[in-house]
Amino acid sequence: MSLLEVTDLHVSFPTSDGLVQAVRGVSFRVGRGQTLGIVGESGSGKTVSTQSLLGLTPGADISGSAMFDEVNLLALGEDQMRHIRGAQIAAIFQDPLTSLHPLYKVGWQIAEMIRAHDHSVTKAQARTRAVDLLKQVGIPEAARRVNDYPHQFSGGMRQRAMIAMALSLNPKLIVCDEPTTALDATVQAQILDLLLRLQRDFDTALIMITHDLGVIADIADSVMVMYAGKAAEYADRRTLFYQPHHPYTIGLLESIPGSTGAAERLRPIPGQPPSLINVPSGCAFHPRCRYVMDRCISQTPPLITLESGAGGHQSACWLPAATGLGAEAEELREEAVAAGRTGRAKAVAEATAATIEARGSVA
Ligand SMILES: Nc1ncnc2c1ncn2[C@@H]1O[C@H](COP(=O)(O)OP(=O)(O)OP(=O)(O)O)[C@@H](O)[C@H]1O
Ligand code: SF4
Ligand SMILES: [Mg+2]
Repeated sequence: MSLLEVTDLHVSFPTSDGLVQAVRGVSFRVGRGQTLGIVGESGSGKTVSTQSLLGLTPGADISGSAMFDEVNLLALGEDQMRHIRGAQIAAIFQDPLTSLHPLYKVGWQIAEMIRAHDHSVTKAQARTRAVDLLKQVGIPEAARRVNDYPHQFSGGMRQRAMIAMALSLNPKLIVCDEPTTALDATVQAQILDLLLRLQRDFDTALIMITHDLGVIADIADSVMVMYAGKAAEYADRRTLFYQPHHPYTIGLLESIPGSTGAAERLRPIPGQPPSLINVPSGCAFHPRCRYVMDRCISQTPPLITLESGAGGHQSACWLPAATGLGAEAEELREEAVAAGRTGRAKAVAEATAATIEARGSVA
């Protein structure tokens, strides 16, 4: 059984402009010691999908279930949630200063976190553990730096300190929400290595949220690609990279610099992520999809299981099941489009082509 099993999660926010449907029926699972990557453009619902599980989306309407070690997180009161957050599920965010208080010493903050969850730990013991944790995450001279304030740490060190804080209570699951976006490439690689090493040592499960497929290429066991609050595609990492099915996933792969996508060149996805108040009809990706067919505009494609891939490859798209980036798969897609695109879809496709033309598709 999975450590975390989320089923049909819906999260919406009533606002003065209307109901923001941030998450529209998402299901995912993470096994012990496993890494799930959640990827998608800005506003696709990645953060809300996980923060809502931790009681961090005040004012939201939430439905579905989220079984964590046989407890439904969505049914917990704030008091019960406080025992789980931090102790069993920790979170690491993009900006360490959202977790590290600028006015308190780094070591003190880690020690307090430990003591808040376990009153039997003395101040001295908690401090020793804080030094150990800082050592584990690679802070040099940890015994001295434990007395530093967050501003005395570099960006990479602050990120490490936040990981130390997340590890302090031996959580079973760590949610990493864009943990390396603000860091340069070398430090980013070091932090990802560190997370992987710690995961192996402690058998911790990870959810890695990112807008960058390149980041999860090395670390995720399985990947959920989100678009407009839904899963567009769900697959083990290998399948996702070599046999993607959903045009949005293909678009993300082609927009990774140096990728070997179908066109072997950088090809940005045209258009903008959609409004989550007025979500496009049918397939929410249809206004940006180069394969758009008539039915895509009127009928929402269900997430169906494809035969490719070991771990249950799923995609929500009306194109035929043949997957991959090769010429054969492309031919099948073109055939389906030729047969399925008549009326309105033609106009949508022409508009999309014009956007691509205007932006220039070759980088
Ligand atoms: N408290 C809130 N009230 C209203 N709308 C919200 C609230 N929180 C999030 N949203 C909206 O929900 C949608 C999904 O947001 P979310 O933060 O999950 O996106 P994301 O995929 O994490 O994007 P990013 O990559 O920019 O972090 C967005 O349209 C966002 O504006
Ligand atoms: S369902 Fe249609 S519009 Fe949506 S991704 Fe597939 S081909 Fe494109
Ligand atoms: Mg986010």
